Parts: sequence; C-alpha cells; structure tokens
Amino acid sequence: MNDFVFQNPVKLIFGKGQLQELPKELVGYGKKVLVVYGGGSIKRSGLYDEVMTILNDNGIEVHELSGVEPNPRVSTARRGATICKENGIDLILAVGGGSVIDCTKLIASAAKYDGDAWDLVTRKAFASEALPFGTVLTLAATGSEMNAGSVITNEETEEKYGWGGPLNYPKFSILDPTYTLTVPKDHTIYGIVDMMSHIFEQYFNDATNTPVQDGMREGVLRAIMEAGPKLVEDLDNYDLRETILFAGTMGLNGFLGMGSNGDWATHGIEHAVSAVYDIPHAGGLAALFPNWMRYNVHVNPARFAKLAVNVFGVESEGKTAEEIAFEGIDNLRSFWTSLGAPETLAYYDIDDSKLELMVEKASVNGPFGGFNSLNKEAVLSILKASL
Ligand code: NZQ
Ligand code: ZN
Repeated sequence: MNDFVFQNPVKLIFGKGQLQELPKELVGYGKKVLVVYGGGSIKRSGLYDEVMTILNDNGIEVHELSGVEPNPRVSTARRGATICKENGIDLILAVGGGSVIDCTKLIASAAKYDGDAWDLVTRKAFASEALPFGTVLTLAATGSEMNAGSVITNEETEEKYGWGGPLNYPKFSILDPTYTLTVPKDHTIYGIVDMMSHIFEQYFNDATNTPVQDGMREGVLRAIMEAGPKLVEDLDNYDLRETILFAGTMGLNGFLGMGSNGDWATHGIEHAVSAVYDIPHAGGLAALFPNWMRYNVHVNPARFAKLAVNVFGVESEGKTAEEIAFEGIDNLRSFWTSLGAPETLAYYDIDDSKLELMVEKASVNGPFGGFNSLNKEAVLSILKASL
C-alpha cells in the first residue's frame, strides 16, 4: 500500500434520538447560528421545528438560509456568506442532504474570505480560516457529513467542481436514520448508487497489497447490495435506513481510502454532465459507471474479476479474468436497473448535441483518473457509450 497519514476530526453522533445531543455541541461557539437548509423537506418532516425548538430553548439567535438547490449553486453560497458577515454568525448548522452540507462548507470559508466564493472552488484562492459548522444529515449518499469535500455549481458558467481542504470538515454530524425515512424512492435509489460508486472509485486504485482495505470495501458493498433492494421496497424500514445511512458515511469518510489513491474519473465526468444538464448526481453515475468499467477492464482484469467474484457473485471456474470482469459489470448494471436507476443519459433527454462541451469541461485540468488516466478521446468514448 502507499504511505499515508490519516486524520478525520469529525465527531459522528449516530442513532435514534441523537438530536438531543445538539445543545452540547453548540457550547463554546457563541450564540449566533445560521441554519442552512434546502427546499422544504425538513419542514414537511418536522425536523425544522425540532431543530428550532432546541435552538430557541438554548438562547440561540437564529438566522436562516433556505432554498439550497440540489447541485448547490455558488450564488446561494454567496448569499449565505453575506448573512454571516452582516450578522457576525458564530456557527453554521446545515440541516439536509449533501447539497445543503456542501453549500454550507463554501459559506463557512467564504464568510472569512474577502473575495468571491467561486475563487475558493476554482482554487484561485485558499481560505486561511472558516466559520465552524455542524450538520444534521437527512439523506444517505454523499458522505459529505464526514469528509472535507464540497461540490458546487456555477450556474452562470455551467461549471461544477469539487473542492476541499482541512477547513471543510464539520465539527460534528448528527445522523438519526429516522430523518431519512421520508427520503422518496428516487433519491433513496440515487443515494445507493452514489455510495456504491464512491467505494468503486476507491477500489480501483494505483496501490498493491491492500487486502485489509479491499475486504472492508467489499464488505460495505455487500451490505449495501443486501439492504438496498429491500429498502427500495420498504422505505419506512428503520433498520434498513440505518444500514444504508451508515454505509453512505463509511463510503466516503476516508477510512476505505487509506493507503491508496482512488480513481474519481467517473465523478469528474458526471460533474461535467450535471454542470451542463443539472441532473441528479447519481442518476448520471448510474449511466456512466458501468461504461467506465467496461472501458478500463484491460488495465487490470484481475482487479475487476476480484470485485466480480467477491461482490457480484460471479462464478469464476473455467473463465478468463476478462470474462469474469465483464460478467461482474453486467451484474452491476442489472442490479442498478432492478433498483430503478437510469441506464442511460437519454433518460434525462441528454443526446449527443453537447458531447464535446462535456468532454471539455471534464478535461479542464488535462487527463484525469488515478487507475487509468483518461484523455479527451477516452472521456468521449465513455460518454457516448452512456447516452
Ligand atoms: O432540498 P430539500 O427540500 O431538502 O429536498 C432534498 C432534495 O430535493 C431531498 N431530501 C433530502 N433529505 C430528504 C429529502 N426529501 C425528503 N426527506 C428527506 N429526509 O432530496 C433531494 C436531493 O438532496 P441532495 O442534498 O441534493 O442529495 P445528495 O445528498 O445526494 O447530494 C447531492 C450533491 O452532493 C454532491 C453532488 O454532486 C450533488 O451536488 N456530492 C458531494 C460529495 C461530497 N461532498 O463529498 C460527494 C458526492 O460524490 C457528490 O458529488
Ligand atoms: Zn458521488
């Protein structure tokens, strides 16, 4: 494995009723809190009222930023940063899914930066400090609740980029599976696809001798594949929500990535697709990932075959590594399709008219991908296969 240094400072507070821990977590930051949330799901579920009651009971001066979009926009983060600056906010509380948390990460840094928030996303500038923030997660998918990544869309320039750094870690994240019970079927499916994709991106890497990491990755994937289909048929099932919520966090909090550089090319291509078409992140991944896999089997057929046997249940006897690998990819495709995930980008009315634009956006920093570096021709080939 590669040499590594690992640190994850996020305090994870997991389980039923854990919102009661919130007052303790607020201590020491000051009394002015900006609550950031999305389009209203937390009001419908009752979580908004619960959070407000706790804040009011603890003498907190509450400010609000609502309407954070799925695929959060830099303009919304700018509004949030302005609220922080004008009101001397001490702490930000994100209540929602990955989009709300990602937006909060940018608000936290932009509140301490004099220039434009987009500079931080494009790495034109780096924040030297940020406001502290915590999260109450409502959707299992991104792992943003326990990582330092953030993905932001610039709606004017049709760009969507991931950015991150040590200041982007939440101080605490409260995860009660109860608050994910209201996630509708489509976003439940998207969440499952997203967390599986994160694990694949770490599975396909540049390191050797990673049996511990591989075992953990395969184990989390098997648990998701066991619970996922049952959950999609039984959305009110607390135990299944609990499993999927924990899996999403473990999928991208760094633990499964120790000792190896992942690939992340599929995420890079998908971000270009959603920059242009504003589609759900994991809807794009569901169409793209099997095609990224097919394109890359030749790089290391044994690696794909190992995943196929250990996770997708492929029988290996009498078959070549390539045959096993492609059978595994077909099984993944069937699994996602059986859940109800899109098979093609055409599902979102995406055709070949903007292929070149998406290739350019994905390749803005040159060839990318840690397992196999993709040039523009490769990106085009994967996109075309996914239409
Ligand atoms: O806005 P509201 O009303 O809250 O509704 C949301 C939104 O419409 C709804 N929702 C969330 N929790 C709910 C709920 N509806 C009912 N009940 C609940 N409990 O679900 C919709 C989608 O929410 P969103 O936050 O956009 O989903 P997700 O968590 O999948 O986040 C997607 C964003 O995260 C980025 C993606 O690119 C995308 O922009 N990613 C961030 C990553 C990271 N920071 O590490 C990694 C990921 O790979 C990903 O790229
Ligand atoms: Zn993702």
